[in-house]
Amino acid sequence: MEEQAEGLEELLGTKAPSDVTKKTERREHSTRIIAITSGKGGVGKTNISVNMAIAYAQLGKKVILIDGDLGMANVNVLLNVVPQYNLMHVINKKKTMKEIILDTEFGIKFIAGANGFSKIANLSVEELEYFAKQFSTLGNADIIIIDTGAGIANNVLQFVAAADEVYVVTTPEPTAITDAYGIIKIITTEIVDRPVNLKLLVNRVHSADEGKRISERIITTVGQFLGYKIYYIGFVYEDSAVQASVIRQKPFMIVNPTSKPSTCIKHIVGRSEKSEPLENEGVSNFLKKFLGKKSR
Ligand SMILES: Nc1ncnc2c1ncn2[C@@H]1O[C@H](COP(=O)(O)OP(=O)(O)OP(=O)(O)O)[C@@H](O)[C@H]1O
Ligand SMILES: [Mg+2]
Repeated sequence: MEEQAEGLEELLGTKAPSDVTKKTERREHSTRIIAITSGKGGVGKTNISVNMAIAYAQLGKKVILIDGDLGMANVNVLLNVVPQYNLMHVINKKKTMKEIILDTEFGIKFIAGANGFSKIANLSVEELEYFAKQFSTLGNADIIIIDTGAGIANNVLQFVAAADEVYVVTTPEPTAITDAYGIIKIITTEIVDRPVNLKLLVNRVHSADEGKRISERIITTVGQFLGYKIYYIGFVYEDSAVQASVIRQKPFMIVNPTSKPSTCIKHIVGRSEKSEPLENEGVSNFLKKFLGKKSR
């Protein structure tokens, strides 16, 4: 892995530039990479990922949505698309990144995830170079949103560790709150070499007050017991428009743009847009962090 990472520094141009290269160095187009995760399953990650991606696209951003939920193909269902290829085809050098990206009718691009990301740890330097080169082409996007699976199974932590921002989704249910705390604890104790930019999103609330109250409880506990700061990014109302859109397989931002959940998503994206971009964000930094973090 160490060796792999060193080769990558060279490849991705993240190695400290020599005097000669310094002058010609160009700053990489800045891509913001957001991972959406949760402790408990079924709290609304996929709906939030898909609709946030659309809200960003509606602001004129180039958005790529990656289904990191290995094997579950959640996003496919919500977008009503059937991808023929996924990231595994790129890892196996069968396809280029360009060949696996799907255009959707909703103004966002979509990449289907893959089982077996752990295979990356065993790739040869040459194979890794191919993958890194392909992945780097995503640097044209303004925003990459990764819908991770729930909990700490598979490669969730790998995505979370590499992303610029991590949105932890919970609902007001006590089990979801406990599990949100659980995942935050794992993230903050496992990733110790750098701070993780954690944001809390409370889904399925009945009032703004409820969202605030729950967020305050989690923020206080996380601060007190983990010594970590997590920011409240906002809430999404419990609303039948969500289920209705799932059944129609069309995102609520599209079929019901004035619904309460759509308004909430717009607020969240607006707030996210206002926050300062991080120093080390972008696709090449993501790759370095992603490949440097072994999957479980
Ligand atoms: N704000 C909401 N209002 C009403 N229902 C909601 C809301 N958010 C989510 N749901 C319901 O919860 C279901 C699960 O949502 P979703 O698939 O987005 O969760 P998830 O966290 O991605 O689940 P998984 O962990 O299985 O990937 C939806 O199909 C919908 O019925
Ligand atoms: Mg999901």
